[in-house]
Amino acid sequence: MERTLILIKPDGVQRSLSGEILSRLEKSGLKITGLKLLHVDENLAKEHYAEHVDKPFFGDLVSYICSAPIIALALSGPNAVEKSRSLIGTTNPLESPPGTIRGDYGLEISRNLIHGSASVDDANREVSIFFDKSEIIDYEKSTDGWVLEL
Ligand code: RTP
Ligand code: MG
Repeated sequence: MERTLILIKPDGVQRSLSGEILSRLEKSGLKITGLKLLHVDENLAKEHYAEHVDKPFFGDLVSYICSAPIIALALSGPNAVEKSRSLIGTTNPLESPPGTIRGDYGLEISRNLIHGSASVDDANREVSIFFDKSEIIDYEKSTDGWVLEL
């Protein structure tokens, strides 16, 4: 099953939106297969955001994600990457439609509450950065057959 990495960024945790965000993602039918609170250090941040190393906002991005605890989530399900990105919305909350997490709760691009992997390759790389294999649990729910036609 496809898996993606979600981060509830420092602004989401500080604004007490973790439960709301988690609830929205969970209600979609995607399954939580990894979950932890952590305080990201500079090395982890630079590894996670390596694709942005040459961008002018890279320094701010790294210092922000390290500024307070975050919640990391592995979510699993068919098309988990695309589905979670559609629930999250577009990068700039101003352009993100109502009904999306960023559209409903964010005002600025640098405080957009949540990260979701952009592709399946990114997701595999990012999940392995944030989670040890032993921290990912694939399990069945009695409701699986009501979410998916099995
Ligand atoms: P994310 O990786 O956080 O899920 O967001 P994304 O794919 O929608 O956006 P991406 O292009 O990967 O950018 C990563 C994060 O960098 C910040 N950003 N700031 N100041 C700027 O122009 C700018 N552009 C991007 C955003 O916080 C974005 O989530
Ligand atoms: Mg991205």
